[in-house]
Formats: sequence, structure tokens, C-alpha cells
Amino acid sequence: MSARSRTAERSRRQFGSRVARGAVFAALFALLCPPGPAAVAQNEPEGAPLPVIIDTDPGTDDAMAILLALASPELDVKAFTVVPGNVTAEQALENTLNLVSLAGRCDIPIAGGAQRPLAQRLITAEFVHGENGLGDIELEPSSCSADGRFAPDLIIEMIHRMPGEITLVPIGPLTNIALALHKDPGIVPLVKEVVIMGGSITEGNVTAVAEANIYNDPEAAHAVFHAGWKVTMVGLDVTHRTNFGAEHLERLALAEGEVADFAKRVMRFLVYLAAEFGAEGTPMHDPLAIGVAIDPSFVTTRHMRLDVETRGEFTRGQTVGNRYSFVERNEPEGDRLKMTGIDRVEPNAHVAVEVEAERFLSFFLERITGF
Ligand code: BDR
Ligand code: CA
Repeated sequence: MSARSRTAERSRRQFGSRVARGAVFAALFALLCPPGPAAVAQNEPEGAPLPVIIDTDPGTDDAMAILLALASPELDVKAFTVVPGNVTAEQALENTLNLVSLAGRCDIPIAGGAQRPLAQRLITAEFVHGENGLGDIELEPSSCSADGRFAPDLIIEMIHRMPGEITLVPIGPLTNIALALHKDPGIVPLVKEVVIMGGSITEGNVTAVAEANIYNDPEAAHAVFHAGWKVTMVGLDVTHRTNFGAEHLERLALAEGEVADFAKRVMRFLVYLAAEFGAEGTPMHDPLAIGVAIDPSFVTTRHMRLDVETRGEFTRGQTVGNRYSFVERNEPEGDRLKMTGIDRVEPNAHVAVEVEAERFLSFFLERITGF
């Protein structure tokens, strides 16, 4: 027996009991839970536009998400609320004002909010988003001005004004949403859905396991995932499979107009940056979340328990998905704990696990180019 197969054999013996428990979990899961990933019903395309509030930290991919949202008649953007993340709060607000002005939509309120995460220092990412957060592409000064309200207050106010109607689409750290929740937990049953770009149940992009939006404010993420409202998580599990590459750039190059010109330059910046790191395309993180708000059938989701790790030395900011919805029950027995059964944990998030990437990328291009 080779050293490698001896090790494998030892591991099999050591973890045999765990595997058996895994099998019990799986069997119970199959009995008690709906089978496999579930495709989410599509939003009615002919229906009234979906009222959304987009909470954002622009950010190159946020910029593309904002332009996609404003080019999509299925959405009625009620407000942009701004959070620090990719860049400082001040820069993110300036960028949002410039982007919304570029799209000619100064009628939409734009409000600044938190200045830093709830319980840690702000981590900005000019390294990947450019010094100004927009790939160092300068926009004309904005014709829009900032709304005087504090973003979490604006979120609360709008939710109360339209009970049951508003979908929140946070595409940055979850600080503003958590502050709104903390100030008025009464908003929870009044929100239609929260579609989050963030997290992952398979990989990280800041650490081995943590995604940037969650890593940048894990305490806020914990509050948002456990609030009790409907949460859909569009994480790296799907955004890392939605890569915009050279062939998409070619199609974008045919488009004309100010918005398309800006999009070309940003996407070129991102595709070249990805190439420097050996990747063939750039992940469309934030635009995909907007896409899912418009048409949930771009992804397939699984309903599961999702917890945010806030303490681990190597795992802080990880979103931990429990695919079986069960945990082992251990009870004191003398000087040890003894497994006495298993307990069900309630699912709290619809986690996107599959994506129709090319269909989404074509959709994005259609909306930005107009053809
Ligand atoms: C997320 O982090 C930011 O860098 C992007 O804007 C996106 O929201 C991806 O991990
Ligand atoms: Ca973002």
C-alpha cells in the first residue's frame, strides 16, 4: 500500500463515523426538504416595474450595475444609498452622483450613509477599482445633488411608504442595511426581498473563504442574514462563473453614446486587470445581483441556513451554508458530550448555486448597448 493510500485509509477509518452521520443528515434532508436546487419563478416581465433601493459602493462593477439598473424598465429605482467599501464613503457618494448624472436620472434620490463598518476599520480596494473607484476613468461633474437624509433613514422611510413592495439590492458591505434594521426592526415584514451581492459557500476573494462585501462588515452581514426577511444571496458561487471577456468587449465596442463609452472604458480596465492576474474575464459581481432582481431565473437557488463567521482567525467574514439544515445535538454525559440526535436548523437564505452566465452576459450587453 502506498503512503498516500495508507493515509487515505487512516482518514477513512478516523472519519468513518462522521461520514455515517453525514449519510444520516443526507437521508433526513432528502426526506424532509424539497429535492435539489430550485429554480425561482421569474418576475412578471409585463407587470409593474419592481421598486428597488440599491445600496452601493462604486466601485467599477457597481458602476456597471447602476447603469444596468437604470437601463432596465423592469426596475423602478426608488433610491441609491451609498456605503463605503471599494472606496471611502465620500468617494463612493461622488461616484454615485456622477454615474446617475451620466445616465440622466437626477430625479432619483442619492443618499450617503455610514462612514465606516460597524465594528472594524474600513478596508478600501483602490488596488482593484482604481484610485477613484471607477478604473481611473473621470466622469463629468454631476448635475445631481445628494439627498440630505441619512441613507438608513431614507431606507426606513421608503419601506414604510411602500409596505410589502420594496426589494433592497445591497451590492456593497451591509452596513447601511444593518443600521436601518437596528434603528427600526419593524421594516422586516414590510420588505419584499433582499437580493444581496456577497458571500459564497464555496470560496473567497479576500481570504480563502471570505467574500469582500461580507468581510468588510461581518457583523452587519450577520444582522442582515438573520433578520427574518426573504434573502437571496448572489455570491461568488455564481459571480465567479459570470465572466465578461474579450469577446464581450468586442460587442460592447460597437455601441455608441456617452454611457456606452464609459462602460467600454471601465470594462476594458477590468478585463485587462483580470488578464494581469491570469484570468480570461472579469466577474460581473454586482451586475448579476441586479440581473437576479430583474429576472430570478438567471440563477438557481437552494434554500439553506446561512451563518456569518464573525470570530474565526482564518474564517472571519465567511458565509457558512448548511446544505442539510441539520446540526448534531450533543448533551453532557459525565465528563464528555454525547451525541443524542440531530436538530433541524431553519433555512434563512436562498443561495444562488447555478447561473446561466452567457444568457446574463448577453442581457447585460443588450441593455448597455441598446441592441
Ligand atoms: C464585491 O466586492 C466589491 O469589490 C465588488 O464591488 C462587489 O460588490 C465582490 O466581492
Ligand atoms: Ca460593490
